Amino acid sequence: MEIREAIRTTGAVRSFTDQPVDAAVLAEILDDARYAPSGGNRQPWKVAVIQDPDLRRTIGSLMRGVMQDYFAIGATGRTPFNALDPDSFQPQHETGPETPFPLVEQIEKAPIVLAIAADLAKVAMMDYGNPVRPPVTAGGSVYPFCWSILLSARAHGLGGVMTTFLSRVESHGGAALGLPSGHALAATIVIGHPIHQATKLKRQPVSAFTTVDRFDGHPFAG
Ligand SMILES: Cc1cc2nc3c(=O)[nH]c(=O)nc-3n(C[C@H](O)[C@H](O)[C@H](O)COP(=O)(O)O)c2cc1C
Repeated sequence: MEIREAIRTTGAVRSFTDQPVDAAVLAEILDDARYAPSGGNRQPWKVAVIQDPDLRRTIGSLMRGVMQDYFAIGATGRTPFNALDPDSFQPQHETGPETPFPLVEQIEKAPIVLAIAADLAKVAMMDYGNPVRPPVTAGGSVYPFCWSILLSARAHGLGGVMTTFLSRVESHGGAALGLPSGHALAATIVIGHPIHQATKLKRQPVSAFTTVDRFDGHPFAG
């Protein structure tokens, strides 16, 4: 697949057919993704291929709890778990019926489930200790790798999605997965043969986020 087409058409896939994915194909995907960039080329990622059904159930139920809160908080109009908004961390205690979450319901039978960790000893966290906002730069050394997994999956005719929900319950998820100390659970990625691959993606136009010289500068016209 041509790279520009892949970049523009790799939508999130959360529902998969029953068709398995060969371990050899996953090995190829990871072999592509390892070319991702990282700070100092220190490649801090570690991957656990989660095969054990019990472990998948554990991961799924941990994620379900977080998702419930995420959507309930989101329904109040807030961005859930937003570091600039302390109220966005309040559980909403919904009393309605349990919402089904396709990603979580799929996790037991999805062809591939990956947990991605980052070895923090290999990450230069350039904005660590900033007194006015939480750090964001560390993720830059692991999320390009995650995205490359999804792009390579697409090139292999597969689809998938990443989620960071497990990071919210890292003490439990990390214990279940044997996360080494000094590591962060960065993402869980689910991959399989898509039931439907969305290719017309809704994104803002360049003019909505690009200005000249300064972020308050005039719009970049191209
Ligand atoms: C950091 C990150 C976290 C995400 N977490 C979740 C998640 O927990 N559950 C989920 O279903 N999708 C998750 N997604 C997928 C996004 O919802 C998806 O990329 C976005 O809605 C755009 O979807 P589209 O590509 O189909 O247009 C995540 C994506 C990223 C990059």
